[in-house]
Amino acid sequence: MNSNKLRESFLKFFEKNGHKIVASSSLIPDDPSVLLTTAGMQQFKRYFLGEPSPYGNKVVSCQQSFRTSDIDRIGDKTHLIFFEMLGNFSFGDYFKEGAIKLAFSFLFEELKLNKQECYFTVFKGDKDTPFDKESFSILKKLGVPESKIKKMCRKENFWGPTGLEGPCGPTVEIYYKELEIWNLVFNEYFRDKHGKLSPLEQKGVDTGLGLERLAKVIQNKPSIFETDLFEPIMREISGKNERAKRIISDHIKACTFLISEGILPSNKDRGYILRRLIRRIIGLEKILGLSNNFLIGLVPKVVEIYQDIYPEIKSKEAEIMTVIQNEGERFEKALVKGLKQFEKISLKGNISGIDAFHLYDTYGFPLELTIELAEQKDLKVDKQGFESAFKKHQQISRAGIEKKFGGIGKQAGDESIKLHTATHLLHQALRQILGEGVKQMGSDITAERLRFDFSHSKKMTETEIKKVETLVNQKIKQDLKIKKEEVSYEKAIKSGALAFFKNKYPNKVNVYSIGGFSKEICGGPHIKRTSELGVFRIIKEESSGAGIRRIRAVLE
Ligand code: SER
Repeated sequence: MNSNKLRESFLKFFEKNGHKIVASSSLIPDDPSVLLTTAGMQQFKRYFLGEPSPYGNKVVSCQQSFRTSDIDRIGDKTHLIFFEMLGNFSFGDYFKEGAIKLAFSFLFEELKLNKQECYFTVFKGDKDTPFDKESFSILKKLGVPESKIKKMCRKENFWGPTGLEGPCGPTVEIYYKELEIWNLVFNEYFRDKHGKLSPLEQKGVDTGLGLERLAKVIQNKPSIFETDLFEPIMREISGKNERAKRIISDHIKACTFLISEGILPSNKDRGYILRRLIRRIIGLEKILGLSNNFLIGLVPKVVEIYQDIYPEIKSKEAEIMTVIQNEGERFEKALVKGLKQFEKISLKGNISGIDAFHLYDTYGFPLELTIELAEQKDLKVDKQGFESAFKKHQQISRAGIEKKFGGIGKQAGDESIKLHTATHLLHQALRQILGEGVKQMGSDITAERLRFDFSHSKKMTETEIKKVETLVNQKIKQDLKIKKEEVSYEKAIKSGALAFFKNKYPNKVNVYSIGGFSKEICGGPHIKRTSELGVFRIIKEESSGAGIRRIRAVLE
């Protein structure tokens, strides 16, 4: 069965069993304590806590998910950074017995998997939470021999919460031929910010079944990389280093989906994750001896696999390629310098941890690249030394950040709020002067200036720049009021609010309007009235890649 059919059969099976199909939410979650969506339950977190669900009490989804926690394991047969998670959820409807029976019915009746090849794990209990006797008995009642039910500790069989606080509980995990395929989470507790557990009034079920792993099982492949979710990408990559090929295939998918969400490479948060992934693939490209532009050629392969399911990546294909190409070109320069540095270092013999870390930190060399280059010279790299240099560096920079921002954080924050509002004005002004083709491609705000990337095919003329600046200043002088409304995503779009990550917003969104001039879906915060902004000045207009312009501006 191909993966599109598999995805559909899961959704349809649960629909037939009274669940409402809900589309994947954005990879950018509405929970500010989490950088990226890591699980299907994330968009439903509040319904586990008792808020009524607009979809009813039983839902099913196929969620785009992203887990950097597994980054070191990518390259084996079954781990990924970006993956799709199939899941069924109950908010106060069925609980352990219902969930386990549905899972059995889908796997063993619908997909006809051989139950004899499966084993199961349950939570064995500890000082804080009791043994999950109920799940153990249900499994036995369903004919599973005790020898195939393993009792495991908290680390293995207790899930959640995502972020700082939320629902969590014991799990039952289903393994097929030693591979964990399905995690059934029974949310019966709430964990607060301090780690304290209290029973939830309404019990819930959250399950996660990795589509790629299920495809491996159903398509009977040695690894997920031979399934139809990867084969078209893997086929394009030549070379003998299987691990490098797998990492490239995983990361290029991850990058494609991140960029389709409007994320651009940068030095912080999500942008930083994207930057590291692109740079890691480029380093691996060198290992495999592939050409420079090879990478962007893989984007159409990712699009080919997913275009029927996620049409937004098809519509953004060109943008995605441009972003990757630009980042690649920027990195190339550092790479050339780094290679020279490597030559120097390698004259001393084996590569020390500090030197490997220096190559990583200053030139962006992934550790694999250093190892590979060293191997070609019959040299070794001190991996442990690299890890400890890495950890030490992290501690130092954390302490540095705290010291640097401890005293001025508030002030810097206020200033940047003004620049955030100015960014909305600039965006709308650009659309009025240059046309509605202008779309936000990225935004970065510091205490001193704003930086705004947008789609536009030509350099702006002096007159256009002046016109935009004047229009923004006019709106500042008009002392427009900034209004925030919380509405459904559909309503926001109908009302004409600008949104950039099509189809991927949470159900409820904030819309900020500035007088009748600008209206955008945005997380905020903003100032109250435009007259607080002072004078707006564009200080630079430049290219930021093919079809993308960049403006830097300040408030004076
Ligand atoms: N939240 C659980 C997981 O991510 C089940 O969906 O594994």
